[in-house]
Parts: sequence; structure tokens; C-alpha cells
Amino acid sequence: MSVVIITGGASGIGLATAVHMQSLGWQVAIFDVGNDAIAACKRQHESMDFLALKVDITDVEEVDLAFNTVLGRFGRVDGLVNSAGIGVDKSFLETTPEDFRKLNEVNVIGTFNVSKVVVQKMVASGTGSIVNLSSVSGMCGNSGRSAYGASKGGVIALTMVMAVELAKHGIRVNAVAPGPIETPMVSSMHTSEMRAIWHNVVPQARYAAPSEIASAISFLLSNDASFITGQNIPVDGGFSAAGIIEG
Ligand SMILES: NC(=O)c1ccc[n+]([C@@H]2O[C@H](COP(=O)([O-])OP(=O)(O)OC[C@H]3O[C@@H](n4cnc5c(N)ncnc54)[C@H](O)[C@@H]3O)[C@@H](O)[C@H]2O)c1
Repeated sequence: MSVVIITGGASGIGLATAVHMQSLGWQVAIFDVGNDAIAACKRQHESMDFLALKVDITDVEEVDLAFNTVLGRFGRVDGLVNSAGIGVDKSFLETTPEDFRKLNEVNVIGTFNVSKVVVQKMVASGTGSIVNLSSVSGMCGNSGRSAYGASKGGVIALTMVMAVELAKHGIRVNAVAPGPIETPMVSSMHTSEMRAIWHNVVPQARYAAPSEIASAISFLLSNDASFITGQNIPVDGGFSAAGIIEG
């Protein structure tokens, strides 16, 4: 049975991906820092058999330990989804160096930390697929997203370099760039004014469900995507394609 590690898997897009991958017959290990989120996810999905581990992806020792637990339980790893992330909505003028450090630490360096240990095992087995969560905010200048957008631009660059260097080891690396998705992160950040703005700039004029991102991720993890690597694929209701939108 194939095995996937999903960071941030106790909430939002990561959790939807965990549920989806398990329904496809994969074994799922979750790395998440939120004890409450892990407990809630276990309660909500009692019938699911996730290996849920409390891990802060910014802590390399915790990541190492958790990865060894996964190998001890399943003996292999075929996929990695780097969904753990944090956001902030602040104007450029209000953003602090500390905001930048915090977001880069989790979104970019955290993604790097987990990928680093997982890739070593994938290199040894000569196969693997990694999907990083970037964002449309890493592709254009969304207001309030200087620190967040810069961190997601970093994830896109990291994805391309990993894809190029790891192709010879049989490892594919892609990113999915979501538009607005109904998750706990968005509930805490998006005001009703912001929601109205997004509705106006997304041609499909709605927020997506986390499961709509999970299905794109599962495609990239699977052999159906065997010749796709180094790509950043927007799943955004047309946001990144849009110019003028008629009302
Ligand atoms: N929701 C959106 O609209 C949207 C849009 C674009 C990109 N994204 C990206 O998708 C990913 C998932 O977002 P979401 O909306 O599902 O968020 P979410 O807040 O619902 O879930 C994120 C999870 O990451 C975990 N996490 C945070 N810091 C961590 C750390 N240091 N170590 C381990 N786990 C940690 C949290 O505990 C949480 O369970 C993020 O990378 C986010 O930036 C989301």
C-alpha cells in the first residue's frame, strides 16, 4: 500500500487531502503542530486510520523523530504533501521583519525541513512524488500579502529547483496554488468585505471547498501525473487567468 505524509493534515486542505488519499487506498501520516486540531480531526474522522503525529515542522529534530515513526509503522514513503502553513493579512507599511521571519520559517523553511528527510528515503527507493502548497498570492501582488506572498513565491522557486535536481532520482515535485478556499485559515483572515472582493475577481465567483484542492493534489501524487514535474498549478476558479470581468 502506498504511503503519504501530509503536513498540516489536521485542518483545511491538508485534512481534506488526508481523507481523499485514504479513500483511494493510501496509508496516511499527518504531521501537525496543533494538538487541538489533531484531536478534532481524530474525533471527526473516527473511522479513518490516520497516523497523526504532533510535529512542529520548523523543528528539525521533531521532524526527524516523526519521520522515523512513519518508517517504523509503514516502512516506506511514496508521497509528501507540504500543506502546513500560516498566513497574515497586513499592509506592506505595517508588516514587520518578524512577520517575514515567522512566515518564511513555517511556509518555506518548514517545507524544506520535511522535504529534506523524506527525499533521502525517496532517493534510496528511486521514486516519489511531492506536492507543495503555494498560493495565487505567490504569483501576483495581492494587497496585504507582502510577507505571505513572498513566502509562497519562495515555495514556488523551491518547487522548481527540487524538481530539476530530483528528477534523476525518479522524484517529481509540483506545487498547487489555491485561490480562496473555505478553511479555518480563511475563516480567521477573511472579512465580509474581503469575501466580496474575492467574489468579484474570481470568474467562478465563489470560494472552493478544500476537497477541490485535494483532488488536484491526489492527481499530482499519482502516476497519472507521471510526466508532470516542476509545475505550479493554480486551482483558483480562473483568478490567475482573469483580466477584465464583466459583471
Ligand atoms: N485556504 C486558502 O484559501 C489557501 C489559499 C492559498 C494557499 N493556501 C495554503 O494551503 C495550505 C493549507 O492551508 P489551510 O487553509 O488548509 O490552513 P489551515 O490553517 O486550515 O491548516 C493549516 C494547518 O497547518 C498546521 N501548521 C501550522 N504551522 C505548523 C507548523 N509549524 N508545524 C506543523 N503544522 C503546522 C496548522 O496547525 C493547521 O492544522 C497553507 O500552506 C496555505 O498557505 C491556502
